[in-house]
Amino acid sequence: MLAGGTRAGEPGYPAAVPDFPPAFVWGVATAAHQVEGGNVNADWWAWEHQSGSGCVEPSGDACDSLHRWREDVDLVAQLGLNAYRFGVEWARVEPADGEWSLASLDHYRRICAACRARGIQPVVTLQHFTLPRWLAERGGWEAPDAAERFAAYAARVDAHLGDLVGRCCTVNEPNIASLMGYRLGLFPPGARDGPERQRAVNAATIRAHRAAVEALRAGRGRYPVGLTLAMAQLVAVEGGTAARDEARLLLEDEFLAATAGDDFVGVQCYTRLRFGPGGSLLPPADGVAVTQMGYEYWPQVVEHAVRRAANATGLPVVVTENGIATADDRQRIAYLAEALAGLARCVADGVDVRGYFVWSLLDNFEWTLGFAPTFGLVGVDRRTFERRPKPSAFWYGTVATTGRLPDQAGPGGRGGAATGEDAAASGSRDRDSPSAAPAG
Ligand code: GAL
Repeated sequence: MLAGGTRAGEPGYPAAVPDFPPAFVWGVATAAHQVEGGNVNADWWAWEHQSGSGCVEPSGDACDSLHRWREDVDLVAQLGLNAYRFGVEWARVEPADGEWSLASLDHYRRICAACRARGIQPVVTLQHFTLPRWLAERGGWEAPDAAERFAAYAARVDAHLGDLVGRCCTVNEPNIASLMGYRLGLFPPGARDGPERQRAVNAATIRAHRAAVEALRAGRGRYPVGLTLAMAQLVAVEGGTAARDEARLLLEDEFLAATAGDDFVGVQCYTRLRFGPGGSLLPPADGVAVTQMGYEYWPQVVEHAVRRAANATGLPVVVTENGIATADDRQRIAYLAEALAGLARCVADGVDVRGYFVWSLLDNFEWTLGFAPTFGLVGVDRRTFERRPKPSAFWYGTVATTGRLPDQAGPGGRGGAATGEDAAASGSRDRDSPSAAPAG
């Protein structure tokens, strides 16, 4: 169902851009290791400190969200969003083989409860690139019992906080973990190996996902469960077809097929990748802007990836990550607007897409690249950890609370009434409060 009509054709309003349904989930995403800080029992902590790993700096205190999580949840509420995706850190919940930390489980339970108290759906990611060191030392995803151990951890989390969880993502981007960790050597364990190893790790993470889904369904939780997949617009330029097809199979199709029986598929997308002569990955095309990540500014990827995932799986789709690393916040707004216009076309065509999460709530630790790329709607002072919302945060909040893209909501994007559940959820929120003031 679409909320309200479009104003296409009226002066000042662009071509028809449909609205989003009232029940649409509007969120922001973070990941435990990238924001919490001090994640010393995770393999990534060791990797950041290992010479030759290629990491430009360690995660250190990150955004100190381990202690400042309440501020983060408050920000989500103040912006008028109705969902927050955050990570539960396996290395904190099971810091040593078979040793469970009740204090850590309580910590994540408190975050879920704080979300619920503010009308925010807690979306929990169980594993986001990091593994406990004890498991990494035994082979990580290649350990013979990795799937069983992951399922046991999932069951513990569910038993402790499953009554509060709104949605659960099992393994985040297993396709990136296998590519970066076992083929390109850029993530732990740092292996540079061929497609066979990558494929074997794909299979191992899929086994872990399936075991976790089973464990969660057998537990107390009654929330939707799925995995999240990194997707790109994969394009073959002359001579690049074979490489593009291999990438499509190993990075996307094997995982899309593995979602059978899940409740949703999480799509995470940022850019386009072009394969050229000899299978080489081509640099950004002339005339296409480049983000701080070095890849193409390509918001069109959202419409492409959502349609592809929906067609391939038949499952409801949630865009569990999309955003841009840029120092220019106006460029962030333009990127999000174009991405959301594509998503609105999917909605108008009846594609079953349930929600959208901006990566990220905060400027945070961008893995090997450290803190330089800034994906956040909210900046973080690296010395004081002070959170400073950027104009894009308020822009996005307006889209979320109105269910409309700003060009339709009225000049400046501030017009239009909130609709349906979003209005109810945001009605008591004061978006003009001092703590939510835009950065200078
Ligand atoms: C995703 C990943 C996030 C974040 C983002 C931006 O692949 O899940 O952790 O780093 O990319 O690069």
